[in-house]
Amino acid sequence: MTPIEKRLPDVTDRHQLFFIVSTFYDAVRQDAELGPIFNEIITEWDEHLEKITDFWAMHLFGTKAYTGNPVLAHQLVDQQQQESITPYHFGTWLFYWLQTINTHFEGPNAEILKDKSRKMQTILYMKIFEYRKKKKQ
Ligand code: HEM
Ligand code: HEM
Repeated sequence: MTPIEKRLPDVTDRHQLFFIVSTFYDAVRQDAELGPIFNEIITEWDEHLEKITDFWAMHLFGTKAYTGNPVLAHQLVDQQQQESITPYHFGTWLFYWLQTINTHFEGPNAEILKDKSRKMQTILYMKIFEYRKKKKQ
């Protein structure tokens, strides 16, 4: 008997991205370490999910709806958390992001979403670290 080949779709539209973002946040909000941070800072969740979907649509499809400053946003999150954000938080964040994508999608765009998030976490953490140092000068 030949095994049934299970194929997942690739991410080709904003609707699928919104699904990824929402499913990802469902997990993040229940995480013991990340959950309290996100649940404390973000109050308008509908708005946040649309904004993050726009952010990823920009990086995947080149759409222009996103207007924000993610670097500053995370520097301020770290200040709000008494400079306690570590690479461990980013590792956990990435775990849920990769897991969500891998569970539901596969293909070139799914790979792009995963690759970019890996690059982004390094940049974001470095920017948080720079901000802390600058504050102390
Ligand atoms: C308002 C803020 C931002 C705008 C307008 C923006 C826009 C763009 C555009 C137009 C591209 C090229 C198209 C593409 O390859 O998808 C790009 C790529 C990229 N951006 Fe952003 N971006 C923003 C914020 C960020 C931030 C905060 C990070 C990191 C934390 C980031 C990380 C990346 C990475 C890793 C790539 C892909 C480069 C590669 O393929 O190696 N972006 N961005
Ligand atoms: C590669 C990893 C990450 C990416 C790509 C990412 C991306 C983003 C983006 C695009 C925003 C919206 C910024 C804006 O326009 O206002 C945001 C907001 C936020 N992020 Fe992240 N994030 C990452 C990791 C994290 C981690 C590890 C934490 C916490 C430990 C975090 C906590 C937050 C919070 C609390 C907000 C809301 C800020 C506010 O609305 O004031 N993020 N993130």
